[in-house]
Amino acid sequence: MTSTFAQRMAAMPDIRWWHRSAGPTVDGMQKIAVLGLGHMGAPIARRLAAHGFAVAGWSRTPRQVEGVIMAGSAREAVRSADLVITMLTDGPAVLSVAAGADIPGTATLVDMSTIGPDAVRDLAGALPAGVDLVDAPVAGSTGAAEGGTLRIFAGGTPAAVDRVAPVLATLGEVLRCGPPGSGAAMKVVLNTALVTALASLADVLRVADAVGVPRADALEALRAGPLGNAVARLSSGQVAYFPVRLAAKDLALGVTGRDLPVAVAAGLRLAAADPEADLTSIVLGGT
Ligand SMILES: NC(=O)c1ccc[n+]([C@@H]2O[C@H](COP(=O)([O-])OP(=O)(O)OC[C@H]3O[C@@H](n4cnc5c(N)ncnc54)[C@H](OP(=O)(O)O)[C@@H]3O)[C@@H](O)[C@H]2O)c1
Repeated sequence: MTSTFAQRMAAMPDIRWWHRSAGPTVDGMQKIAVLGLGHMGAPIARRLAAHGFAVAGWSRTPRQVEGVIMAGSAREAVRSADLVITMLTDGPAVLSVAAGADIPGTATLVDMSTIGPDAVRDLAGALPAGVDLVDAPVAGSTGAAEGGTLRIFAGGTPAAVDRVAPVLATLGEVLRCGPPGSGAAMKVVLNTALVTALASLADVLRVADAVGVPRADALEALRAGPLGNAVARLSSGQVAYFPVRLAAKDLALGVTGRDLPVAVAAGLRLAAADPEADLTSIVLGGT
């Protein structure tokens, strides 16, 4: 027999869903739904639960996340939520999941996916009346999500950002970018820089190979130059997951419809690579 969401809640001895007696002191934001439990959504949900929030999770491919109560649908997950977080692949995914979830008009939606400002605008127009939207994409990968050291670029009305900032602060540093869409816009700028820098570094390493400079020597010397941050990313030792398919999606958010030959060239390099390969392996492989 299939148990209901409420029955599964009752069977959870360690979490008193929506009725916790000892939650964090964040007024009105105790009940959080996380939609999308992939590489980034899962550690975010786990970290929020570990900080004492009552967290419901939903993912298209069902997953178990420690401390998180799984719902059978996005609609079920958001039913009583004060705050809904989406961490999904792209704009169309966020639009279909968030707009179809029937988020309560008293809730705030924080989209942490990288979708760009145009999709944020479409999303705002598709939400039920009363739902406040904060775009809050992040810099930092899975290790930063686990450890609460993300950089979070928040766009929204001052009141909406104020409301969610204490919750987001458990995930990392909140950087206020301005009105709705400004966080998403900043993230497009950052990832255009990141992806074009890594693609440039791939070419630079091929030049090093061609002129007989050992890779290790080249990387050491490049640390002090304009590609220093890209070199540091390759050798940081931090846990990261940045597949080519997500890098290409991010690059397209900045490039599409614009005359940007360098970024377009970086996109062509990505288009020729395995979409599931890690971006840094493309750089070091020099393919
Ligand atoms: N990975 C990083 O280091 C990183 C860093 C910063 C920002 N980001 C951004 O954060 C977002 C999530 O990244 P991620 O690494 O967590 O990606 P991911 O592991 O691929 O997870 C994406 C999630 O979105 C779900 N999804 C995709 N399309 C959907 C749809 N149409 N309907 C319902 N669910 C859908 C996936 O469900 P399934 O599992 O069923 O496919 C999965 O739960 C992306 O926008 C990415 O650009 C990623």
